[in-house]
Amino acid sequence: MKKIDTSTSINGIKLPLCIMNASGALCSTNKELSNLLNSSSGGVVTKSCTYKSRKGNVLPRYFEWDLGSINSMGLPNYGIDFYLNFLEKKTIDKPIFLSISGLSEEENYFLIQKANQSSKVTAIELNLSCPNLIEKENMLGYDFDKISNFIENIFKFNKKPLGIKLPPYFQDIHIKNVASILNQFPIFFITCINSLPNGLFIDTNKESVVIRPKGGFGGIGGAIIKPFALANIHKFYTYLRKDIPIIGCGGISSGKDIFEHILCGASAVQIGTQFMKEGVSIFKRLKKELIFILEKKNYSSLNSFKGKLKNFQ
Ligand code: SIN
Repeated sequence: MKKIDTSTSINGIKLPLCIMNASGALCSTNKELSNLLNSSSGGVVTKSCTYKSRKGNVLPRYFEWDLGSINSMGLPNYGIDFYLNFLEKKTIDKPIFLSISGLSEEENYFLIQKANQSSKVTAIELNLSCPNLIEKENMLGYDFDKISNFIENIFKFNKKPLGIKLPPYFQDIHIKNVASILNQFPIFFITCINSLPNGLFIDTNKESVVIRPKGGFGGIGGAIIKPFALANIHKFYTYLRKDIPIIGCGGISSGKDIFEHILCGASAVQIGTQFMKEGVSIFKRLKKELIFILEKKNYSSLNSFKGKLKNFQ
């Protein structure tokens, strides 16, 4: 039987497997990150960090149901130094994506500068799409006026591979505009999509919301958001420069979901909600399921079908 290759390359960064965790899912603490380093994930993404450690929003702030999840975490993290020090002490055999999410543009410049100094950080994933900050209503990913100038400033000093985690967009023109801004810069990759902002999940018995922060509003993840993830990946694949790879994120719980993300143009994928449910054993299961599909379709690698979604026939 033909050997199936499920490895991938993000602009030259080699991932032994195209599947990794999404930032925020079980990647905040020493133990969670050690588990990920020892797992068969293709890379490790750290919890989006800020300069200082943060407790995040009040509990309860995460809730799961059969079709998805809602969260309003508010960026709880131990601060960038914790993540850089953790990595410094470890022997690492796969790419590390340090996720950063400063509360201001200046904080982001500072965090990027710090990340540039660490040889253990393979790439920076700059999160411009956290929907849950009480102190900051508008996320940069939706601020089309500011984003260009902000990215221009970053590339005046940044030397590390740097990708951007984007929020979901719902109009073609928005994706076209964002892609045309990103196309002007040496962006290393994009990750799309973050959770769908400002959803509401209701406990019918209690006639109440299920999380406490922000009146129950939060970012929606999991199976229910897959069509939006696929749409964003497919549109960005159309509009972005071909040398900017896409990391797909949103609604993956099976090998079939991964296949669809790659068919839309993703070069790798991240798992959030389903990884929270299953833990690190998920990577082996998803790899097996992906290989099963590729075998059936007679594809030997991701490149055989990446971005080749057909119109209705
Ligand atoms: C959070 O910490 O609120 C989630 C982070 C994110 O969605 O980017």
